[in-house]
Amino acid sequence: MTTQLPSTEQIRHAWETVAPGFDDFVSPLTMTLGETVLDRLDAGQGTSLLDVGAGSGALAIPAARRGADVLAVDLAPTMIERLAVRARDLPNLRARVMDGEHLDLADDSFDVAASINGVTLFPDAGAGIAEMVRVTKPGGRVVLVCFAYGVEHAEWVRFFFAAVRTAVPDAPLPPADPPPLPFQLADPQRLQTKLVDAGLTDVSVEVVSWDVEVRSAAHYWDVVTASNPIATQIVAQLSAGQQADVRQVLNGMLRERSDGAPGAVLRSPMNIAIGRRP
Ligand SMILES: C[S@@+](CC[C@H](N)C(=O)[O-])C[C@H]1O[C@@H](n2cnc3c(N)ncnc32)[C@H](O)[C@@H]1O
Repeated sequence: MTTQLPSTEQIRHAWETVAPGFDDFVSPLTMTLGETVLDRLDAGQGTSLLDVGAGSGALAIPAARRGADVLAVDLAPTMIERLAVRARDLPNLRARVMDGEHLDLADDSFDVAASINGVTLFPDAGAGIAEMVRVTKPGGRVVLVCFAYGVEHAEWVRFFFAAVRTAVPDAPLPPADPPPLPFQLADPQRLQTKLVDAGLTDVSVEVVSWDVEVRSAAHYWDVVTASNPIATQIVAQLSAGQQADVRQVLNGMLRERSDGAPGAVLRSPMNIAIGRRP
């Protein structure tokens, strides 16, 4: 598997391809994380909130339901279309296709600029963070949420990688060093330093657990392979027989986790980093 960084167009294409699966399966599971983030922000009526790399609305929709005036932006048009469908009863939520590395927005516009697993997986996360800082009002907050501690701690990802490695030992898994982009800011200290270096003050990083219940190996396989570009890329290189072997290993792993039951709760530590624009 190549470690070459993808271009913006390649990233757009990758997320376009999985957007329907992401919307169907992952956004409903991530809404709880969106609520957890919002509980820390007091972002209700009167708050203007930008969600960068919004997907189909795991943060933007609960924020709008709490009364915030929300702009959700994403590189992938299908994500934005899906988000708009989910938000059709929310007049205080607007959604636009936009590159988070080059926000087409004025300086000092938002009380809160937030991103869950969005900006932190850009190849140039620093550029995305700088843009979030630029469009945040002085005194406003910038919020970044991403996996904490590394792949080995994130069961949502680790179960899939481990099953592939067990069933197909020579499968093309992403290298551990450098880590896959979703884990580039997994170290809480590194994430904090990144926000301080971006000019923010009062930076805090809290680690919370994102718990996802999967009903069975088949359900977990369907969710992961339909919604994630890295998983899609791995699966595309496996034969049908190898894919069946991975599902069988997953079945064993989940049952072992839950005393023989087919499903399990997968727990992943997540960083919630919040800084204030001076
Ligand atoms: C893992 S998904 C997270 C979506 C959403 N924040 C959530 O938590 O459900 C990453 C999202 O970032 C978007 N994305 C990737 N690169 C982007 C960029 N340069 N500008 C804006 N969005 C981007 C993708 O299209 C995708 O919707």
